[in-house]
Amino acid sequence: MIIAIDGPAASGKGTLGKRLARHYGYRHLDTGVIYRAVAKSLMDAGADLNDEMLAVSAALELDPEKFGNPALKTQAVGAAASVVSAIPQVRQVLLSFQRRFAEDPPGAVLDGRDIGTVICPNADVKIFVVADARVRARRRTLEAKARGEEADEAAVLEDILRRDERDQNRAIAPLKPAADAFLLDNSNLDIEGGVRAAIAIVEAVRASRGSS
Ligand code: C5P
Repeated sequence: MIIAIDGPAASGKGTLGKRLARHYGYRHLDTGVIYRAVAKSLMDAGADLNDEMLAVSAALELDPEKFGNPALKTQAVGAAASVVSAIPQVRQVLLSFQRRFAEDPPGAVLDGRDIGTVICPNADVKIFVVADARVRARRRTLEAKARGEEADEAAVLEDILRRDERDQNRAIAPLKPAADAFLLDNSNLDIEGGVRAAIAIVEAVRASRGSS
């Protein structure tokens, strides 16, 4: 079973993905980390984020062992990821890595921007998570502060809106719900409420297919 979770920045899809994977005993891939890792390696090299050749070679040399690096979590790396992720060849290089991950048994949960539309168009369950931009900015600010980073909520909100704009309007694999995605509005739900809503969606799909 493949569960695809897409949504805008800081909508809570990563937490939902992790919790759904744990609930069902599946593997989880936060695909944003992949683009963040590519962006970080360009930043570390002091390179232009629009340098296609360097971005592609960073994508080809990606080391999944480094996906847990906390330095990938920052707002700055997220914003840079949204620039490199608009480069078609970068997305092309990263496509097979994501598909291989999705197809390995027993099942997988992938979260990102184009999982239900491009990476796994045949996913068994597709969830598109939305949340009010102010709520997302507040959550992201609190997370950044908890990591010891300085964060100003108004600046975080601006960054989130800019990122959404870029992700929704890029020519390749733009952020949008798949036609067969279920919408989950996470604005007024706490983590447990969001997890319950996501599990209810998965269970409804399974029931409609007659599987247990
Ligand atoms: O989800 P996260 O904030 O970690 O994603 C960072 C950036 O990576 C996003 O703003 C988006 O531009 C890009 N991304 C993407 N496709 C995905 C996941 C993330 O383009 N599947």
